Amino acid sequence: MNDTTGLGDDVQLITLDVNGSPYEVITAPRRTLVDVLRHDLRLTGTHVGCEHGICGACTVLVDGLPVRACLMFAAQAEGARITTVESLADSRTGELSDLQRAFTAHHGLQCGFCTPGFLMLAQGFLAERPEAAKEEIREVVAANLCRCTGYQTIVEAIDACATARRSQRPVGAEEDSCD
Ligand code: FES
Ligand code: FES
Repeated sequence: MNDTTGLGDDVQLITLDVNGSPYEVITAPRRTLVDVLRHDLRLTGTHVGCEHGICGACTVLVDGLPVRACLMFAAQAEGARITTVESLADSRTGELSDLQRAFTAHHGLQCGFCTPGFLMLAQGFLAERPEAAKEEIREVVAANLCRCTGYQTIVEAIDACATARRSQRPVGAEEDSCD
């Protein structure tokens, strides 16, 4: 169970499904999902920038859709499927996912602070729109902020991953990997 120091008396027990595992957390009703992920579950891959829903550094998937975890109370996520950046690499071998490798290959990061948010934005988007054209990717990427202004290479990385996935997908089959 998590450390409840500083939460006050108004706490509740919730169960969260994160990356396929159930977690019981005692939390305050207004504690945000990103704070629970980072401070209670120690999943610090999800970053915090503005805490106002602007930058997208805190993006995670909730039932497959990109969500700003700084704008959602953890209690609101009970019963949903939460996916964080920690889910992308193989948990046993540490091997990076195709999307992560594409970011590396196309230099889709500079300081890297925004990268988890962009990865999860792209992960959710490509699952919904595997046929997305580069212009569409460019529009979606504009939802998140990269203070290093590395947008061109981020778009290139996502587009390359999407293209590779499409080229390896058997005709008529659903496939989400370009390995
Ligand atoms: S930290 Fe959530 S949008 Fe910036
Ligand atoms: S790589 Fe530095 S903020 Fe995006």
